[in-house]
Formats: sequence, C-alpha cells, structure tokens
Amino acid sequence: MSKPNKPIMLFDCKTSQSVIGQDKFLKAFENILNHGAYCQGPETRELDEKLANYSGTKFCSTCGSGTDALTLALMAWGVKPGDAVFVSSFTFVASAEAPVLLGATPIFVDSDPNTFNMDVNDLRRAIEEVKKEGKLNLKAIIPVDIFGSPCEYDEIMAIAKEYGMKVLSDSCQSYGSVYKGKKAGSIADMSATSFYPTKPLGCYGDGGAVFTNDSEENELVKSCRVHGMSPADHYDNVRLGMTGRMNSFQGAVLLQKLTVFDQELKDRARVAKRYDNELDNYFGKQKILDNCQSAYALYTIHCEDRDELMAYLKENGIPCGAYYPRPVNTQTAYAEWNTRSLPVCEKLSKTVLSIPMTPYLDDEDLDYVITKMNEFAARKMNKAA
Ligand SMILES: Cc1ncc(COP(=O)(O)O)c(C=O)c1O
Repeated sequence: MSKPNKPIMLFDCKTSQSVIGQDKFLKAFENILNHGAYCQGPETRELDEKLANYSGTKFCSTCGSGTDALTLALMAWGVKPGDAVFVSSFTFVASAEAPVLLGATPIFVDSDPNTFNMDVNDLRRAIEEVKKEGKLNLKAIIPVDIFGSPCEYDEIMAIAKEYGMKVLSDSCQSYGSVYKGKKAGSIADMSATSFYPTKPLGCYGDGGAVFTNDSEENELVKSCRVHGMSPADHYDNVRLGMTGRMNSFQGAVLLQKLTVFDQELKDRARVAKRYDNELDNYFGKQKILDNCQSAYALYTIHCEDRDELMAYLKENGIPCGAYYPRPVNTQTAYAEWNTRSLPVCEKLSKTVLSIPMTPYLDDEDLDYVITKMNEFAARKMNKAA
C-alpha cells in the first residue's frame, strides 16, 4: 500500500483553524488589541464560565499552564514541606514537579499494566508505608488520566477519604473525557487541566485551568494566581502565590476552539475505534474503564519490540513517539524520591508507543497506518512461528 500524498500527523494543532475560519480568530485578536486588557481580560472570564458549564463544576479558574493549575490547586490546599503527595510516576514530569515546587515529598505510585493509570493497590501500599514510617503528613493524591483516559476515581476517592486526604485529578491530557457520566474537571476534589497546543483542547501557547465545586478553594486559587493578592486590597498580598494568569489571546483562541471541541472528541473516538478494532492483537492496547470515555490525547499501544517498531514506522513516514521513555521517579532531579520499586512503570516506559491521533485523520491515513502496523506484526509473528 502506498503512502497517502499528504503528511500523516501525530498531533494536529492547525487544521481546526480552517474548520473554524481564521477570520474568527483574527476578529477576536483585533478585539483584544482594541480593548487592551491583555491579561485575564473579558475573554478569559467568559472562558471560565463556559468551561465550568462544560465540565459541570461550579468554578473554573483559567491560568497560565497545566503546571500552574496543578501548583495553584496544591497551594490552595496549603501543601507544604512535611506533606506526602502520592502521584503516578508514569506521566509527564509536571504531575510531580508541582508538589516538589511547594516543598512536599512526592511518593511515586506504580501503574496498572492495562490502563497505564495509577494502580490502586500500589497506592494503598504506598500510603501504608508512609503511615508506618510516621514522618510525613498524608496530604493529597494526584492520579493522572494518562493519554486522556480516566483513572479509577471511585476507588481512589474512597482511599483518600479513608486516610483523610484530598484528590487532585491531573486531567491535563483528559479534558473532554467522561468518567461514569461525569466530565473531566468534575470528578475529584479539584482538577487541573492543560491547554498546551497538542492537548485535546489546545490553545496557541500555554494555558491551563483549575476546577472545583468549593467557592473558598476557588477564591484561594484566584488569589494565588496573582501573587496571593487580597480581593479587597490589591496591594496587600495575604499569602504566597505566583504569576499564574492566562492571557486574553489564549482565552480568545479557546473560546473559538470550544465551538468544534465536541466534534473533535467524536473524531478522536472514531480514530481510536478503528485502531481498537483493526490493529493486530500483537499490540497491547490501553484499556479504557467501563462506562468511561477517553479524550484520546494520544493513542498508545505497547509492544516488546517498541524501538524496532518506532524505527519501522518512521521509515514508512508514520510519526510516532515514546511517551514516556523514563518514569518520573527515575529522572535525575527526582533521584532523592526514587524510593519505591515500580516495575510496571519501568516496563511501560520501555514498551509504549503513541501513534497518530488527531481528529482530522481520514480513512486513507488510517488504512495506511493500520496496514503498516499489521505488516510489522505479521513479520514478527512469522519469525516467531
Ligand atoms: C499529565 C500532564 N500533567 C501536567 C502537564 C503540564 O501541563 P503544561 O505543559 O500546560 O504546563 C502536562 C502537559 O504536558 C501533562 O501531560
């Protein structure tokens, strides 16, 4: 089968511009140039409302990035040195970076080999270990919806309740996903998402948002977002905070992108369904929990010959990427917290491969990717027979 004449994309941050109409973006940008409120202007305030409605939460506070969102949520809970924060290790580094920036101790938790998400049995083990040692305060859990797929929230929330902890969902890859009827943002005590351009809902720079149903928490997030400012006196900073504002241009982009978001999610699901049904079982597929929908930030398989498959796909003009080749606990800056054995994370980091996943892949692209992947699998299985 010959390669389609157009490039196949791993991510596609641009096609939606022509679907929506570039003129709409230009008009919105012109509006900002005219009103002059470049940071947290009317666009971001409108977006806060629209995103809260979309997620089914009372409050949404947009901010500068997903990392800011995670950090702001933890700041609102007063996370500090001496606190243990339990976090998935098979993730992008920011999930663990946020608690470390606040001086807390990250306790890395292993993954489930099928969902790739936080293993609830290992979570309980990790909590018991920390409790037995008695040196740290059990503070929070950060489950990560890896590649867009929701974690086992019922179990994680129950464990958190049992030990008196809070749950911050790292939904940075999963905005638009659904867990048992609840949209990302509305499932845990607080949720953080990212609008980095490659995310399911992406802007044209950095952006993020914090979701909560608790008005006090929301006020704390909003204060920390602007250096801990008092709402009553803008020159009195009543707590430590940061520069975490979203700029109005990103707000305007996201308001436009929201108009096609549901269709894009449907198209991501269409692509995933073809992969689920047609890719050879030689490739392990990420299990999505029953009654849940992934936002499919990425479509990720696992296979023992990952590096060979990656080279073969690239030779054939199919972009792909190993997300993530090193669990966070094994990274240099995190060496001092690399205290637990995480065999599933270690294995996943050597076997996972993300293949093209955009809402704009058509049948011609998918026929080609699936055929090439299955040819690789057939060659491997013939050799093994
Ligand atoms: C799981 C996860 N957490 C946090 C982040 C951080 O988001 P941002 O890059 O917007 O700071 C990302 C972004 O890649 C992510 O994938």
